[in-house]
Amino acid sequence: MNFSVHETRAKEADSAPETAPNPSNVPSLDRPEYAEVLDEEIHEEYMKIKTLLLASRNTEQPIRSLVVAGSVRGEGASTVAIHIARTLAVGNAFPTLLVDTDLRIPSIHKYLGLKNDIGLAEVLSSSMDFAMAIHRTRFPSLGVVTAGRHPLDVSNLPNTQRYQDFLQFARNHFQYVILDAAPIRETFDAVVFGAPLDACVLVVRADHTPRPFVLQARQRLIEANLNVFGVVLNRKRKYVPNFIMRE
Ligand SMILES: Nc1ncnc2c1ncn2[C@@H]1O[C@H](COP(=O)(O)OP(=O)(O)OP(=O)(O)O)[C@@H](O)[C@H]1O
Ligand SMILES: [Mg+2]
Repeated sequence: MNFSVHETRAKEADSAPETAPNPSNVPSLDRPEYAEVLDEEIHEEYMKIKTLLLASRNTEQPIRSLVVAGSVRGEGASTVAIHIARTLAVGNAFPTLLVDTDLRIPSIHKYLGLKNDIGLAEVLSSSMDFAMAIHRTRFPSLGVVTAGRHPLDVSNLPNTQRYQDFLQFARNHFQYVILDAAPIRETFDAVVFGAPLDACVLVVRADHTPRPFVLQARQRLIEANLNVFGVVLNRKRKYVPNFIMRE
């Protein structure tokens, strides 16, 4: 299954939205890729993903939890994870939890303007109440767990009972659980965090990521028995013809 998302472009300075101080629970609106209203074509691609996820509910293998990862840094995995979660949550019918599992270089909190003092790292290294780590956002049905700051040996952690309990809590309280993950070629974290989930989405930056990198990442997911739900081709450029006939 392939989905494609175009490159979003900054608006001209004089038409840019005013950047008011950003309270901790309001998504940033000053960058087009995180704007509240998405470009129509981009919105349609996310709606396709939502429709397919909803359709899977009537199958033997419903997909209610998804890990989103790229092969290398900068493919747009976090951006895609945010928009999948947001598209599911909008309208309040499907409460969704977005979790940043990129504990090395987390970014969800930055993109959504959230604090990162307490997040997944703290949840997994303590016995704190899971609900305490969930940020509310301007979308009433979208909850977010940021990555947190506590130093952790990520390699062992996802196999622990604590992680299983956290996932169970998330599944019990939300219709969908979307994990943003570190790039697959950099670490095994995406595979380990994603292994107990229903499926994964691979994000590829168009005209940028070398084909062998994408194939290796996909292979790693398949070998780890993750169900590759689809590939998002992100940041597709709309080319403008560079030769124009003049009369
Ligand atoms: N469709 C898009 N159009 C324009 N810019 C985009 C798009 N998707 C992502 N970006 C920008 O590309 C950069 C990298 O995006 P993002 O952080 O989502 O990637 P990532 O794969 O999660 O990177 P990392 O592995 O470092 O976490 C960000 O500046 C983001 O705003
Ligand atoms: Mg990221």
